Amino acid sequence: MPDDALLALADPNDRDGDGISGRPNWITVPDYATLRPDARPRAGKYIGRFGKKAAAYDLLHQTASAYNQDMGVISFFEDRDPNTHNVLDPEVSNQKVQDVVAYLKFLKAPQPRETEQAAVLAGEQLFVQVGCGKCHTPELRTGDSPVAALANRPVRAYTDLLLHDMGPGLNDGYTEGSAQPAEWRTPPLWGLGLSPNSQGGSYFLLHDGRARSIEAAIAQHGGEATGSRDRHDRLSAAEQRQLVDFLKSL
Ligand code: HEC
Repeated sequence: MPDDALLALADPNDRDGDGISGRPNWITVPDYATLRPDARPRAGKYIGRFGKKAAAYDLLHQTASAYNQDMGVISFFEDRDPNTHNVLDPEVSNQKVQDVVAYLKFLKAPQPRETEQAAVLAGEQLFVQVGCGKCHTPELRTGDSPVAALANRPVRAYTDLLLHDMGPGLNDGYTEGSAQPAEWRTPPLWGLGLSPNSQGGSYFLLHDGRARSIEAAIAQHGGEATGSRDRHDRLSAAEQRQLVDFLKSL
């Protein structure tokens, strides 16, 4: 996703007055990352995209830090002497890390299902009407890429990849890059209806998995999402079911 596309969606000072002020997470890029030709740095910082707070620059950064921080496995990328740049004691080869990156990069996007059902179509309208799509942007386009299959393609991920202040209820007390404790990157909603299949039949939504249903996840939206949540709460019970039917079709 080109930086320009994300900057076009950002509205850090809420100039349009809709209560929603998405902004990129400006991060320090690790020395092993390959910078995008179309990157738009600011004061030496770059726009992050991956992770709950968008604190990882690319899939290699995400993968190398997940090996290190989530699994305690040291790779060449994350374990170099800061002065000499010598590898200290890697436990996983570069090739293996790069293979995982390639696997992630070429994973197929989840295909929406039951898209012609009346309830799903009605729910899609409601999604836009109550303003969910202001953060969960239905479609973005990839930019240029050395891989033809990934270049200039529509991506219906339902995210703007930007940070939003979600209110005190979702404050985890941690900062990452320029992301504040209550700020989270809009999570993609593609594949939402399929996620219980890989989680023992249950939903574990929001950054810490606390929401056990789509309805519970919506109810926890605060901060910049308060207006949208209130509009959702004023829908009839039947309309709220249509919205959930739509979300489950993704
Ligand atoms: C102001 C931006 C914003 C708006 C508006 C918004 N969301 Fe979200 N949404 C987020 C963010 C950010 C999170 C992640 C919060 C967290 O993890 O604590 C989220 C999380 C979710 C999740 C959980 C996804 C997951 O994988 O954990 C669902 C489902 C969801 N939103 C649906 C909706 C629906 C439906 C609406 C409209 C009623 C809506 N959102 C409006 C920003 C927004």
